[in-house]
Amino acid sequence: MDITDRTVLIVGGTSGIGNGLARRFADAGSTVIVGGRDTDRVDGLETVTIDVTDPGSIARARDEVLAAHPDLDLVVTMSGVMVLEDLRDPAHTDQAETTIAVNLLGTIRVLDAFTPHLLGQGHGDFITVTSGIAFMPFPLMATYGATKAAVHAYSESLRAQLAGTGVGVTELVPPAVATAGQEQVNPNALPLDAFLDEAVEILTQDPTPNEVVVERAQALRWAERDGTYAELLEQRSRALSTLPGR
Ligand SMILES: NC(=O)c1ccc[n+]([C@@H]2O[C@H](COP(=O)([O-])OP(=O)(O)OC[C@H]3O[C@@H](n4cnc5c(N)ncnc54)[C@H](OP(=O)(O)O)[C@@H]3O)[C@@H](O)[C@H]2O)c1
Repeated sequence: MDITDRTVLIVGGTSGIGNGLARRFADAGSTVIVGGRDTDRVDGLETVTIDVTDPGSIARARDEVLAAHPDLDLVVTMSGVMVLEDLRDPAHTDQAETTIAVNLLGTIRVLDAFTPHLLGQGHGDFITVTSGIAFMPFPLMATYGATKAAVHAYSESLRAQLAGTGVGVTELVPPAVATAGQEQVNPNALPLDAFLDEAVEILTQDPTPNEVVVERAQALRWAERDGTYAELLEQRSRALSTLPGR
């Protein structure tokens, strides 16, 4: 994928990985708009206010972006929340609902909002965002993993449905990256720049791969194939001991 001459909207680009990716595209020469609820914290990039849990907000953001950038040719669905859950506590349903609303339904709604534009244009790309956790659960983040597995499956279907239209679908599969507070709780999280260096190198290959899986994410992505799934899941379940009362 070329990143030097795109007009790209990164929904969920107001912080973290999305903001870092936005700066990579901008530095490479692309026109970049970042979206999110809290656009005030963004310096030096064009922004659009969008709440992916609100269909009206998505429609307004789409209209605003397409009016200013009728040549928009890449949409990244980066918005996501990462929530720890105690499944023995019935109150976790609230966390599950929020996680599904942002990570899964929010992704689908943003894809739906821009599909007619990209199809009408006859070329363009979506980049969806999952996680190593889509392929290898981290049991402390149960609904998070479920939504990311769902976005993986959805991305595969979207790619199949858009085949032959000129609109591509690429799935970004980050491992733990030192953003969104991960840097405090996970000393093994990959520094953002190291992640972006590798991810951009893979993303810019020709032909564009269906999935961008950096080296650190490969053990999770391929655990089932590699026969390491049960052992890794057991290791990752040890973090449950940090829940109150365990
Ligand atoms: N960091 C990791 O270890 C890791 C690993 C695998 C996958 N990922 C995925 O990578 C993506 C980015 O994560 P990150 O680590 O960069 O986290 P982050 O810094 O918290 O970024 C999350 C982004 O999502 C946006 N967002 C959250 N709720 C939203 C809503 N209702 N409407 C619109 N935007 C919303 C936030 O913008 P506002 O708050 O301004 O709305 C922000 O721009 C997520 O999808 C995450 O699941 C992260």
